[in-house]
Amino acid sequence: MLIPRPARLIRRAGSCVPTGILAGPGTHGPARLLAAYTGLPLVPDGPVIRLARKPGLGPEEYTLEVTPGRALLTASTEAGLLAGVQTIRQLHPRLPCLTIRDAPRLPWRGVLLDVARHFMPLSFLREFVDLLALHKFNVLHLHLTDDQGWRIEIGGRPRLTEVGAWRAESMVGPAGSGVFDGVPHGGFYTQRELRDLVAFAAERGVRIVPEIDLPGHVRAALAAYPSLGNRPSVALPVWTEWGISPDILGVHDEAFAFCRDVLTQVAGVFPAPYLHIGGDECPTTQWETSPDAQATAAALGVRPAELHPWFLGRLHDIVAELGRRAVCWDETGHAAGRLPAELIVTAWRDPAHGALAVARGHQVVMAPHTSTYFDYRQSEDPGEPPREPVTTLEDVYRFDPLAGGLPVSDGTTPGVLGTQAQLWTEHAPTPEHVRHLAFPRLCALAERAWSPPSRGYADFRQRLAGHLDRLRALGALPKERVRFAGALGVSGKTVP
Ligand code: ACM
Repeated sequence: MLIPRPARLIRRAGSCVPTGILAGPGTHGPARLLAAYTGLPLVPDGPVIRLARKPGLGPEEYTLEVTPGRALLTASTEAGLLAGVQTIRQLHPRLPCLTIRDAPRLPWRGVLLDVARHFMPLSFLREFVDLLALHKFNVLHLHLTDDQGWRIEIGGRPRLTEVGAWRAESMVGPAGSGVFDGVPHGGFYTQRELRDLVAFAAERGVRIVPEIDLPGHVRAALAAYPSLGNRPSVALPVWTEWGISPDILGVHDEAFAFCRDVLTQVAGVFPAPYLHIGGDECPTTQWETSPDAQATAAALGVRPAELHPWFLGRLHDIVAELGRRAVCWDETGHAAGRLPAELIVTAWRDPAHGALAVARGHQVVMAPHTSTYFDYRQSEDPGEPPREPVTTLEDVYRFDPLAGGLPVSDGTTPGVLGTQAQLWTEHAPTPEHVRHLAFPRLCALAERAWSPPSRGYADFRQRLAGHLDRLRALGALPKERVRFAGALGVSGKTVP
């Protein structure tokens, strides 16, 4: 019944219906969360679920022992207890007698949510974080800024959210469709709201890794402050299209001061040890003709196009000064060894790029688009989003982040830190759309990230049937059939 499948589980006859929760020393946070999930009171004794700290288990490891009279959950750490709490949540209210000893396969089990292309209400972010915790994901990668919207309040730079958080309308269908909906869209989060979300996530063992996408994907910031770019006299509205914009940050002091200020404030809101600086899809055409960029390139003895890894290196240094590890998207060329080896790489192109980044000495989060981009259609249904190729539940299940024998990183050594799903929202304007894209594919990725290598797809499907009832009860599945505007029709044409 459990998803993700525990590393070791021995089932016995009988069951236990607990009537309370007994919190041992150092377990009050997880015990309170379990009480909230189950409705059980915190009690001093009786046929209870007892939570206890026990030294000697791994950083996220836990054991669960259920006998007819009681259940005992032990772990060395809060993270281990929280993982066990989610297991009990899935088994509640009648816990089968069993022994579980469980620990994750990979330390970074992430999901990216793009709140830049479409703003998502905070109530949904909370719901989503809790669903990630249910599946033992421990990272929410929050994509906070992009060409189409800037979603985080930044002190002293009010136009980022007064101007950058709003766009006049949105493109319908794939990049270049030329069709627009005529409906203004926007929204942003205050720093206080985001701090509250961080605390809510931390109570569930989920850390939020914020992304400020730099130095490309910055049209919203340039709409607010055109002088950050390469053409200060050109007024650029927040972008209403999808695709790759040529408008990127300039190579000048004002742009670097902006990056430092924003990253410093973001680090103040998000305590996670990681900070994502973007780095993807950055056409360097404007740098070819910019006097600032040309002068910097000449001083460094490189071509303007080669300023891209140099720019990321500067951002890396800023993040390092803030005491955090920088994470960036893997682009063709990054793997050429011109990035600091300490930069963590989110390998989004094909798995070979991830393997190459490991070979170059990086720690890598495997996120190949062919298996982990959940904005891609999941079937041939004409109501699915206009994103190819089809990425089915089974495709996700068959993805192995360690394929080819890649090593797992211990947090210092080169290797695979983990894997994550990407929920880009160009075509997902509402939480209902995101739920449809996310589930059940996230269940399959959760299993790849947490569980030991597979017992097979049939075994997963069997457990998933019961798990889907659970998700339905939690409201995690769309209530009605979701359709995506601009979906590819059977003819292959877009239909607005
Ligand atoms: C990306 O899909 N541009 C990371």
